Amino acid sequence: MAVSLNRRGICDFVSDEELTKIEPQVSLVTKQLEKQLENTGWHNLPRDFDKDEMKEILEAAAEVRTKADVFVVIGVGGSYLGAKAAIEWLRSSFYNEKETPKIYFAGTGCSPSYLNEIVNLCKDKEVYINVISKSGTTLEPAIAFRVFKKLLEQRYGTEEAAKRIFVTTDKAKGLLLKMAKESHYRRFVVPEAVGGRYSVLTPVGLFPMAVAGIDIEKIIDGAKEAFFHLSKENFWENESMLYAAYRNCFNRKGKRIELLIGFDPDFRFFAEWFRQLFAESEGKDGKGVFPVAQIYSTDLHSIGQFVQESGSLMFETVLDVKDIQNDMFLAEEKEDIDSLNFLAGKSLSFINRKIFEGAVQAHIEAGVPNIILEIPRLCEHEYGYLTYFFEKACALSALTLGVNPFDQPGVEAYKSKMFNLLGK
Ligand code: PA5
Repeated sequence: MAVSLNRRGICDFVSDEELTKIEPQVSLVTKQLEKQLENTGWHNLPRDFDKDEMKEILEAAAEVRTKADVFVVIGVGGSYLGAKAAIEWLRSSFYNEKETPKIYFAGTGCSPSYLNEIVNLCKDKEVYINVISKSGTTLEPAIAFRVFKKLLEQRYGTEEAAKRIFVTTDKAKGLLLKMAKESHYRRFVVPEAVGGRYSVLTPVGLFPMAVAGIDIEKIIDGAKEAFFHLSKENFWENESMLYAAYRNCFNRKGKRIELLIGFDPDFRFFAEWFRQLFAESEGKDGKGVFPVAQIYSTDLHSIGQFVQESGSLMFETVLDVKDIQNDMFLAEEKEDIDSLNFLAGKSLSFINRKIFEGAVQAHIEAGVPNIILEIPRLCEHEYGYLTYFFEKACALSALTLGVNPFDQPGVEAYKSKMFNLLGK
């Protein structure tokens, strides 16, 4: 089992009787989800992944890895978070300090200084671009694409620039598709029935990951294993159904804030991906659990105070990675000036584990339940598994709550006001 849900930090808060009561509802929505065709293209995707498409992604990534100094990935929300998360967690948050091509993410907002910085980093460098937008009309990436397209065309000429631009968008519609066809850019498809925040296991996430040297075949293998494990009908053996059930039970008890906890700074963008997935899927009609991401022990020195003494509205979901690679051991010093010799010979992962155990105990005593998701180790396979696990659990959690996990009507409100103000 790649991800298992440890219930020891929850049993005092949600009883098996409560789970038994919610089980029929979760089982029902699970069956509905598995039958539903619209917006659920992500569900069977790992099982049915097209080998030719995999080959195309790998070939394009190999070309970029050989030829580019800089690879600019342009996209926002679900069009970039999954890839950035994988690069930071599986390679390193110091990836760009150590590796080539440098990978910069643009179009994630409209900050001029941020965009200018990336443009400056492209100076005298061999640049390739991947612009990703399912709708092909999102403002922030469209602006960034205009800027980088011009940069490439001025540097290489239109024809040569086109060879350095990859477009990931819908198969049949959108402005970006029109531009790609007219300018003969190479294209990857976001499947019609896969929405932005469920698209990380399509070329949206896989192409940038492959450029970063991540083994994307193993990612899909892990997701495929998750697909089979999480297709089990038995509620008590299906971790995605259990997780959805617990979230709904906590929500009903007034615990409307979920803190996703990781113990490594490289986890920061995975948490961002998680936040987007759950917030955009569940936060509707006045309902939903508000997702927050924390890195411990860093945040134990800030938010930890709030959790301990004012956390009655919260529960925590803790990612417990068992086998830590790249460990470090504390050496013994002759003179114990810093009084740390009691830890001599201990690994940092051992100390981190004690921080984890201490935080879990203290928070549970303060009335903050802890769902512990145990992950054997962090590698491509488990990453694919975990990604699929959260996608399925999120859809089930939202459906159990009674909202549509696949739309985002609230996002449109600011857009229409903004376009009015911009005079469109
Ligand atoms: O989950 C979603 O649908 C959104 O977060 C989108 O991914 C995001 O708004 C970007 O949309 P698009 O890919 O159409 O540019």
